[in-house]
Amino acid sequence: MRGVYVPLLCMCVSLVLRCAISQVPEEIDTYMECTDGYQWDFQTEHCRDINECETIPEACKGEMKCFNHYGGYLCLPRSASVIPASAPETPNPPEGHLPDEVTEPYNSCPLGYESHRGRCVDIDECEQDQHDCQPSQQCLNSQGGFACQCPEGYRKVGTECIDIDECRYRYCQHRCVNVPGSFSCQCEPGFQLAGNNRSCIDVNECDMGAPCQQRCTNTYGTFVCRCDQGYELGPDGFACRDIDECSFSSFLCQFQCVNEPGRFSCMCPAGYQLQRTRLCQDVNECETGTHNCTEGQTCVNTNGGYRCVNNSRCKDPYVQVSNRCVCPVNKPACRDLPLSIVHRYMSMTSDRSVPSDIFQIQTTSIYPGAHNAFRIRSGDDSSDFYIRQINNISAMLVLAQSVTGPKEYVLDLEMVSINPIMNYQTSSVLRLSIYVGPYTF
Ligand SMILES: *[C@@H]1O[C@H](CO)[C@@H](O)[C@H](O)[C@H]1NC(C)=O
Ligand SMILES: *[C@@H]1O[C@H](CO)[C@@H](O)[C@H](O)[C@H]1NC(C)=O
Ligand SMILES: *[C@@H]1O[C@H](CO)[C@@H](O)[C@H](O)[C@H]1NC(C)=O
Ligand SMILES: *[C@@H]1O[C@H](CO)[C@@H](O)[C@H](O)[C@H]1NC(C)=O
Repeated sequence: MRGVYVPLLCMCVSLVLRCAISQVPEEIDTYMECTDGYQWDFQTEHCRDINECETIPEACKGEMKCFNHYGGYLCLPRSASVIPASAPETPNPPEGHLPDEVTEPYNSCPLGYESHRGRCVDIDECEQDQHDCQPSQQCLNSQGGFACQCPEGYRKVGTECIDIDECRYRYCQHRCVNVPGSFSCQCEPGFQLAGNNRSCIDVNECDMGAPCQQRCTNTYGTFVCRCDQGYELGPDGFACRDIDECSFSSFLCQFQCVNEPGRFSCMCPAGYQLQRTRLCQDVNECETGTHNCTEGQTCVNTNGGYRCVNNSRCKDPYVQVSNRCVCPVNKPACRDLPLSIVHRYMSMTSDRSVPSDIFQIQTTSIYPGAHNAFRIRSGDDSSDFYIRQINNISAMLVLAQSVTGPKEYVLDLEMVSINPIMNYQTSSVLRLSIYVGPYTF
């Protein structure tokens, strides 16, 4: 704005000069005409200076002040002062004309400068409080002028300082908050402001006490809790709950599943030992020596236990001969009894699928031409079994009914040997004790 004044001033000055040159009236007495800027005064009969400042409406525009001058006028800034240059040596100075309104001394220096000991020096408008900066603005002096500077974060619009909305310039990676004169960046949850105060970096919540009960995994912007094997994440996402593996399947363990924190284990009943984590294997007490059978007894292992059987178990009229009980033929009581009885023991699991071959009987001695027949001579619940003859010398005991233990059978399996040539018939018995264990294993 300041620059506008200078050409205006020059224009007026040149006007003055022109006026000054052409102001000398010729033959005043003769002609009642005056040059520009003068008018004829009939009273004094002289050309008289026109006060353009009063006669021309708005002789000077804007902030300029009008100064009347001989034959013309000046438009100068209000702060300017005009010292009447030694009145031009007019041969005929207009009478009664005194520059009474022009009392300020005239500054011959350009605007923004002042005369100081014959030189033009810059006016420090800031220092001399001749500026129009607003309180919030900083006045900066410069050669011939001054500037009003807005504080940082503001920009000048006209004479005002307007806050710069830095957020429009994408200074922040996540969120930007504009405040007067400045801005600040904010980060989404799970992130924190980086050292440059603009970028957001992931927060490792796991290192900062994330509330995971067991395992914490940091992810971009958040974290996830995880659980050790055997645990599952609770509904809150933090706590871990023990998984009851036993509830998943009844086949996890052969006998019994025991849930434990984070795991499960299988248990076996007494007389069994755990094998390959889930199976139960019968302990052979007779081999491990954990039985308490006495000298005269024989240990018989069963599914889940053992039995002690007397070595001498022949009952009258039978007598012990080697490992069998024999009925002496000379005893009358032996006439209708089997010739010999052999004791055998076997163990069996519960709930076998039926029919099931369980025991094979085979004769050791055979007379040429003899015909052998096998049958179940007696026994408790013997209807649970039947005999399938394989050939003359062997037969198979077949379980016909599914049996659930614990249960014991004593079956007399009789082999009748018939020799038609010799018209001779004899029978021997295999006394089979069957111990059915309480379990299917
Ligand atoms: C970030 O902001 C803090 C606090 O406002 C300040 O101390 C630090 O100097 C700033 N860093 C940068 C790089 O601007
Ligand atoms: C053998 O031990 C069992 C328990 O394991 C017991 O019930 C039984 O009476 C004992 N028998 C003898 C002869 O000591
Ligand atoms: C075994 O022998 C003893 C005597 O030695 C007897 O008391 C017991 O009844 C016998 N047991 C059987 C099953 O025969
Ligand atoms: C089995 O008995 C038949 C007669 O019933 C006989 O012909 C056959 O030779 C006998 N077989 C043996 C191996 O003894």
